[in-house]
Amino acid sequence: MYVCMCFAVCDREIRSCIARGARTVEEVGDATDAGTGCGSCHEHIDTLLTATLAPSALAELPVTA
Ligand code: FES
Repeated sequence: MYVCMCFAVCDREIRSCIARGARTVEEVGDATDAGTGCGSCHEHIDTLLTATLAPSALAELPVTA
């Protein structure tokens, strides 16, 4: 599914970019050009960042009993 229509960047490319270390919309844009045009896809890129990183972010939380 295309996330960024301006640069024809799909969700798979963005997830791959996140897996390689991108942590912000700007870093995704630097790596893929997604979001560097009209900007209307920023919210979708941010959602992919949150959805992709959430499990690892939860794993880093301290465990309390
Ligand atoms: S749709 Fe992504 S920059 Fe325009």
